[in-house]
Amino acid sequence: MVWTKTEYKEKIIAALPMKHFWHNRFHIEMPFGLINDPNGLSFYQGEYHIFYQWNPYSCEHKHKSWGYIKTTDFVHYTIPCLALVPGESFDKDGCYTGCGFVEEDKLQFVYTGNVKNDKNERESYQCLGSLQADGRIKKEGVLIAKQPSGYTAHFRDPYIFYRAGEQYMVLGIQTEALKGRVVLYHKKAGCWEFSGEIKTSLGDFGYMWECPNMLRFADADVLVFSPQGLQAKETKWQNLYQTGYIVGNLNLSTPEFSHGDFEEVDMGFDFYAPQVFKANGRYLMLGWIGMPDRSEDYPTSDKGWMFALTMMRELTMKNGRLYQQPIYEIEKLRSDKTEIFKREFTNYQGELPRGSEILLDLVLGEAKQITIKFYFALEKITFTYDRQKELFCIDRNKMKLGGKGIRKFKLAAKANLRLHFFIDRTVIELFCQDGEKTATLMYFPEEDRSPQLVIQADDIVTSMKGGFWQMGCIEYK
Ligand code: FRU
Repeated sequence: MVWTKTEYKEKIIAALPMKHFWHNRFHIEMPFGLINDPNGLSFYQGEYHIFYQWNPYSCEHKHKSWGYIKTTDFVHYTIPCLALVPGESFDKDGCYTGCGFVEEDKLQFVYTGNVKNDKNERESYQCLGSLQADGRIKKEGVLIAKQPSGYTAHFRDPYIFYRAGEQYMVLGIQTEALKGRVVLYHKKAGCWEFSGEIKTSLGDFGYMWECPNMLRFADADVLVFSPQGLQAKETKWQNLYQTGYIVGNLNLSTPEFSHGDFEEVDMGFDFYAPQVFKANGRYLMLGWIGMPDRSEDYPTSDKGWMFALTMMRELTMKNGRLYQQPIYEIEKLRSDKTEIFKREFTNYQGELPRGSEILLDLVLGEAKQITIKFYFALEKITFTYDRQKELFCIDRNKMKLGGKGIRKFKLAAKANLRLHFFIDRTVIELFCQDGEKTATLMYFPEEDRSPQLVIQADDIVTSMKGGFWQMGCIEYK
């Protein structure tokens, strides 16, 4: 089944605005089908162009196309359209993840064409495309027809970056010994030349690395990527697949990357395959809220749609670490502020609006443990901070539907804890300590109700300042 342009347009217009109470209101998602990785993120001719993996036909990881919306303010978006669909010999089984870049005043893309050949074997082609006036991406052919020797056909997710005016590309790949890696290409005289595998000190670090992004902050190179196959530890790598980064120095000619530890990007249950792009001097990142191969955690599939994208986050670097903050544009969605100012307390309760942003500045005082609970009728999600163990814990076990479990991570808050929550209908994004750590998760309350906020401490908290806002909806028009 493939829809014609008219059929598609009728379906999307009939499905907007999204009505079900599980549909998020200020996170990008689609009224039908399955979305995953953000793709082709770019700022071009005064607009932000956002593409994402989308199977509009079902909630299966099949028929991967590129959905497309544009915005100037991150509140108003264009009606989603299909910009790139599989069909050519080099992408017939999926137009997989890729990036955008502006050259010769044109918005262009490289993406991976996924092919299952006659022997049912995988083939990966790195393909070029360019944006047309009608919002379609014109396929401009294949740039790299095969993986370099010594690697399997798990070769995908091209990401273009520039150094000293020259164009480079990183891609995720798997060695024949089934180790995840990133390879580097360099464009010379119009041709993409293989520069080699980026040599890190990570060694045996999963069987596949997906979605690499290469960034640069002042004098530091940052490789963000999504490795698969790491063993979960007490306070890290607790999801099926991870996303993280290494910071250091990339020597483009060897190409060696000397770097520090692998740090996770997000500590929640549902975050994967982010893409970062630079626009107007800011590094901006969108992540996929979901997880491959965990479909049973997402009950919206019974209703015909699956997954969402994070709010746009701005990345900065402090003390060798990436910090993430929601972009300031999102503040335009705020209304009806309820102030919170409490001194010397152990308990706080409040009713939240449907869709809220909550900012809490806590001076912990005597309290060693503080618990923030969101109740949805009798169901709840609990966030606990243990000051002595410097441990943050998120517990989703008291929700009936969808993914459950506990996530733990280290956070050194000492006496001052700053928590910034965004509670959408089925998504929570949390920014701790001004974006030092973030956690993104999905939850699926049984009842269509406003959440109740309960804060409890084991001893007297000196003060809590902040408040919450009602968050408006983003619009597609
Ligand atoms: C990551 C990923 C990419 C691939 C795309 C296919 O979630 O597996 O590696 O290009 O999704 O949808």
